[in-house]
Amino acid sequence: MKHNRIGVFDSGIGGLTVLRELLALIPGADMIYFGDTARVPYGTKSSKTVIHYTLRCANFLVSKGIDMLIVACNTASAHAIPALKARLDIPIIGVIESGSLAAIDAGGSKIGVIGTMSTIKSEVYEKTIHALSPDTEIIARACPLFVPLVEEGWFDDEVTEIVARRYLSDLATYGIDTLLLGCTHYPLLKGVISKIMGGNVKIVDSAKATASMVAEMICPPLAEGPEREANRAREIIFYLSDLTQRFIDTGQLFLGHEMTHIYEVDLEI
Ligand code: DGL
Repeated sequence: MKHNRIGVFDSGIGGLTVLRELLALIPGADMIYFGDTARVPYGTKSSKTVIHYTLRCANFLVSKGIDMLIVACNTASAHAIPALKARLDIPIIGVIESGSLAAIDAGGSKIGVIGTMSTIKSEVYEKTIHALSPDTEIIARACPLFVPLVEEGWFDDEVTEIVARRYLSDLATYGIDTLLLGCTHYPLLKGVISKIMGGNVKIVDSAKATASMVAEMICPPLAEGPEREANRAREIIFYLSDLTQRFIDTGQLFLGHEMTHIYEVDLEI
């Protein structure tokens, strides 16, 4: 199986936290990112709508010749993985299973899960974690204001801290030992979140966990494809359904480096 052109899908900017980890762990692959910035947020939408948008965007990525799709968005992973698997003939990897496994591996016996309204409502993390580890206690909490705070760039701000305290203090008193960040944006709030949860709670990031799982699946075959020119510079291409300067500015903070090949596409959904 060759995996040298990886599609990464997110509702907008947040999947760049997953892409950042993938770029670090999988040095040879081309990465084609699609952010559905015209329709973000997905986290407030119904399952039906999230599935509809995700299928449309995934088909676009397939038309760009990807040989694997990473659904970097937790909300899209929560709702659309079965529909994608039923329709697409390439490996589809979401973030739920890898995040759940990482939380269990961290030794979590009382796991807190935070995510968007739509992800938490789906109860996908409870179902996945309980299937893997039936005795684990789970407490899930939607933190809808975290997404706009991150998009505002207020990663370490007093307003963010007040909001985080409001969402998380009862999780802290409930005595969880592990907190799973079940949304692409939340890794950028790790500092504030750790401060509130205290040093004894392990923070597990589904972006990191997913990239590690993909790297384990596909390395080293990338270097071995006969059609791959040795030492060819890889392509990193960004497609967005709405391209703004704000995306580029904030995206570079998420990604940790410059975005050069960036294009707007109209999917006419
Ligand atoms: N990417 C989404 C997620 O991980 C967060 C942003 C949104 O609501 O679309 O759930």
